[in-house]
Amino acid sequence: MATDRIRAFIAERRPEGPCLVVDLDVVRENYLAFARALPDTRIYYAVKANPAPEILRLLASLGSSFDTASVTEIEQVIAAGGTADRISFGNTIKKERDIARAHALGVDLFAVDCIEEVEKVARAAPGTRVFCRILTDGVGAEWPLSRKFGCSPEMAIEVLERAHRLGLAAWGVSFHVGSQQRDTEAWDRALAMAAGVFRALAERGIQLRMVNLGGGFPTRYLNDVPEVGAYGEAIFGALRRHFGNRIPETIIEPGRGMVGGAGAIKAEVVLISRKSADDPVRWVYLDIGKFGGLAETMDEAIRYPIRTPRDGDRVAPCVLAGPTCDSADVLYEREPYELPVSLEIGDEILIEAAGAYTTTYASVGFNGFAPLAAYVI
Ligand SMILES: Cc1ncc(COP(=O)(O)O)c(C=O)c1O
Repeated sequence: MATDRIRAFIAERRPEGPCLVVDLDVVRENYLAFARALPDTRIYYAVKANPAPEILRLLASLGSSFDTASVTEIEQVIAAGGTADRISFGNTIKKERDIARAHALGVDLFAVDCIEEVEKVARAAPGTRVFCRILTDGVGAEWPLSRKFGCSPEMAIEVLERAHRLGLAAWGVSFHVGSQQRDTEAWDRALAMAAGVFRALAERGIQLRMVNLGGGFPTRYLNDVPEVGAYGEAIFGALRRHFGNRIPETIIEPGRGMVGGAGAIKAEVVLISRKSADDPVRWVYLDIGKFGGLAETMDEAIRYPIRTPRDGDRVAPCVLAGPTCDSADVLYEREPYELPVSLEIGDEILIEAAGAYTTTYASVGFNGFAPLAAYVI
């Protein structure tokens, strides 16, 4: 959202070019809302959503733990005051030397989804804890995470048993129900599978300890989404259903839900044109596009709310596109975006709910456009 603080910052500072402004007060509120909704669950902020040092420092000071995808993210967290015992190396695809580096930095919790990765962890970080990620169907998610990560529950049983035999601590099971998950019940199906893995390993004499419930908690874009409390209730209900009164330790890894709503991008209308004299649809070109940070408009998956100085005027459909000389740099065309007919070249607009998965998705300089600037206030 563009909070009053964000609007005041843009009005006073007049930053040149497109930029993301993140309001730390919203990040704090979101952290506290997660903590209230899932009081017995540890929060591992998914650093990939927005690794700005100010955000990491705030979350570290609030007591958050961190889910990281690379050694660089681990170093960013440590630099921001997050200790290694509060860091999980959550990427299932790691170089062995990166596992060793993470281990040397003190990290002792690693994600795996196959025996080959377990063997790497056993060699490079002996004696540490591993959890195995299982595949989910991603149904109900606006940004599903596909089949790239995770394995079948049957394979997870073998992976965790191998971890145990190799001297690692077979710690638990993780899953991700898909990002921007609007169905609070999505965790139920995944927890049913996770409980099956717990039971199978218990029969083999191995007691798992933890379920990593992943991310998936949504940001409000154009449509309403359930409150975080509704997710907390649904997850607690599912834990009771599948684990009875032996509920394991749980962690969540919110990324989008933590920072998405905390930021807005200031952008500018560069051109408004039509493709023929009788074309009913205007093309609106912004100074930011897919390569400048709006990569999640891929397949028109994420539809950001847009505020213009002419809101309230009559609206008509537009194709929205970025400024680069690349035909892929179109944000919304299949489903045109309604914008005021009075919109003009040079107007400044606000792209809201843009705090997650934007700055780090920006190219380093495609077509000579600078990476997305960011201010954290
Ligand atoms: C392992 C892992 N955890 C957490 C997240 C964060 O997910 P979300 O932004 O939906 O909260 C991701 C996102 O890709 C992920 O890969």
